[in-house]
Amino acid sequence: MKTVIKSEIVDVLKNVGLSSGDSVIVHTSLGKIGYVCGGAQTVIEALIEVVGQNGTIMMPTQSWKNLDPETGVHWDADEADWDTIRKNWPAYDKAITPTNTMGAVAEMFRSWPGTIRSAHPARSVAAWGKYASYLTENHDLSNIFGDDSPIGKLYKLNGKVLLIGVGYDKNTSIHLADVRADYPGKHTCIEHSAVMERGERVWKAYETLFVDGKDFIDIGTAFETVHSVNRIVLGNAEIKMMMQRELVEFSVEWIEKNRK
Ligand SMILES: CC(C)(COP(=O)(O)OP(=O)(O)OC[C@H]1O[C@@H](n2cnc3c(N)ncnc32)[C@H](O)[C@@H]1OP(=O)(O)O)[C@@H](O)C(=O)NCCC(=O)NCCS
Repeated sequence: MKTVIKSEIVDVLKNVGLSSGDSVIVHTSLGKIGYVCGGAQTVIEALIEVVGQNGTIMMPTQSWKNLDPETGVHWDADEADWDTIRKNWPAYDKAITPTNTMGAVAEMFRSWPGTIRSAHPARSVAAWGKYASYLTENHDLSNIFGDDSPIGKLYKLNGKVLLIGVGYDKNTSIHLADVRADYPGKHTCIEHSAVMERGERVWKAYETLFVDGKDFIDIGTAFETVHSVNRIVLGNAEIKMMMQRELVEFSVEWIEKNRK
C-alpha cells in the first residue's frame, strides 16, 4: 500500500478548497485513506498547517455511550443490568471521556494542545484555533445541534464541511437542518446522561429533538445534484468539501418536502 505523507495531505486539502483562515468541521476515516505516515497526528498537523493560526478546526467528539440503555447504545449489556448502568456510568469529563466511533483522528484531536471540548455529555465537539472558545462554550444539554450550538455557530461563521473518506450519514451539520425544518414527525424525546452537578455525579434527564439521521445519505445525494461539492482523492479515500450554509439550507427544504 502506498504511504501518504503530510505534504501530500496539505496539497490535497488546499486543492479541494481549504484555505488559510477557514473555519471547518472535519469528519474522518483514517483507515479509508490507506497508510498515513504518522497516522492521526499527521492528518491533524496537515489540517492545522492549511488553516493556519487564523483558522479554526472543529470535530465531533461524541460520547454517545453516555446515554440511556433504552436507546440501544449498550448492546453488550443484559437488559437486567440497565439500572446498574444508569447508576454507575461515569459522569462526562471533557478531559477524560473517550469518543465513541468518532475515529482515531477525532480521538487524538480532543486532547491536542490548544483544543477545547464542549460540555455536552453525549454530543460534544472539540475545536482548535481562532474561534475554538466561541464554538465550544455553552453547549446546551437540550439544544444539541440548533442555532446556538457548536454546529449552529459554525453556520454563523460561514464554515466549511470536510468529509474525509466518509459519507453524508456522518455529516453532523445536517442536524442543524433537522432543528430548523418543520415536518410532521418532528418530535422531542427525553435523553439521559451521567454528568457532574455541584461536585456530584447525577443521571440527568433532558429533553431534546429526537436525533435521527437515516435520510442523510439521500439528502447528500440530492444536494450534490444542485450544489457544487469539491472532490479530490487522497490515497484510497475520496474527500469532499462543501459550504455548510448551502448544505443546511438545502437540507431544510429537502426535509420539509420529503420527511413524513
Ligand atoms: C467510524 C469511522 C471512524 C471508522 O473509520 P476507520 O477508518 O475504520 O477508523 P479510524 O478513523 O478510527 O481509523 C482507525 C483505523 O485506521 C487504520 N489505521 C491505523 N493506522 C493507520 C495509519 N497510520 N494510516 C491509515 N490508517 C491507519 C486501522 O485500520 C485502524 O483501525 P483499527 O484501530 O481497528 O486497527 C469512520 O467511518 C467515521 O464515521 N468517521 C467520522 C465520524 C464522525 O465524524 N461522525 C459524526 C457524528 S455521526
